[in-house]
Amino acid sequence: MAALTALLSLGMCLCAGSITTAEELSVPRAEKLRWISLDFKTVLTWTTQPSEHTYTVLFAPDDGDWTESHDCIEITDTECDLTHDLQPLNRAYSADIQTNTGGFAYDEDEQAHTYSSLFNPYRESNISAVRFAVRPVNESTVTINITDTLTAIHEGTKQLTIRDVLRSDLKYKITYYKAGSTGKREVISASSVAEVSKLDAGEEYCFIVAAFVPSRPKEAQHGGWSSQQCTQVQGTAQGLSLGALVGVIFIVITVLIISIVVAVLCCNCCRQRNKSFQTAQTTVQIPI
Ligand SMILES: *[C@@H]1O[C@H](CO)[C@@H](O)[C@H](O)[C@H]1NC(C)=O
Ligand SMILES: *[C@@H]1O[C@H](CO)[C@@H](O)[C@H](O)[C@H]1NC(C)=O
Ligand SMILES: *[C@@H]1O[C@H](CO)[C@@H](O)[C@H](O)[C@H]1NC(C)=O
Repeated sequence: MAALTALLSLGMCLCAGSITTAEELSVPRAEKLRWISLDFKTVLTWTTQPSEHTYTVLFAPDDGDWTESHDCIEITDTECDLTHDLQPLNRAYSADIQTNTGGFAYDEDEQAHTYSSLFNPYRESNISAVRFAVRPVNESTVTINITDTLTAIHEGTKQLTIRDVLRSDLKYKITYYKAGSTGKREVISASSVAEVSKLDAGEEYCFIVAAFVPSRPKEAQHGGWSSQQCTQVQGTAQGLSLGALVGVIFIVITVLIISIVVAVLCCNCCRQRNKSFQTAQTTVQIPI
């Protein structure tokens, strides 16, 4: 009898166990967590299995305490805007997405949740393409005036620019080339107003610009590239450019070589004809 009771209770245990497991399995967790951040607007996205459950997002800096994100409590969305939560910007944050199980009294440790990877907005937020104006100054210089892009960060009523946020960490990379040439040159400017010098007078140059943050990890250093702007440098073009000069010299040398080859071939030809003429004479002479 005792053995039977033991067996029964064991069976009940197993049964209860499998129920708990099934319950756990049926609580869907957030999956494929992804940080998407542009100009310091930072959104966490994820995917879920279709269900009646809602999700709550918590975040924590470094080893700090977990806080619920105000706008992401018991939401059915699969994204959460954490822009205002992840401040100060230059810290590594992690997020935790909890699946809400309704009235079900759960053990804290068995809560269905998923942790995000660490994210540092200051070092990892993408920077969008900038806008700029280019203005000729004199016969060798133009000014590039770059508009610092606005970010999603506010300080009081002021909307901060990427310069306000990144300060001296923000540089700009300016790539330019002379119209009709393939050689590209590059300058890095610490300021949002840059001078590009040593240009050829009267020539047209085209420029593209991107934010550049060398202090960041490699994959996040470059912002998007701007669209291209071209301008003509003041003054008149100084005759032939170096490229054209090289071209002319090349043509002259080619013509010279061809002339020599033709001359040599012709001479050989003449000599051969003379020879065959002489042979013909000899042949003609033999029968006589
Ligand atoms: C930044 O942009 C790259 C390229 O579009 C993308 O792969 C990456 O996920 C973006 N990073 C963030 C944090 O949005
Ligand atoms: C052009 O302007 C720049 C700065 O404004 C100056 O440094 C440079 O000497 C000027 N060049 C000429 C040829 O005037
Ligand atoms: C750059 O452009 C801004 C706005 O377009 C203008 O207010 C500013 O005066 C310009 N700066 C220079 C140095 O040209």
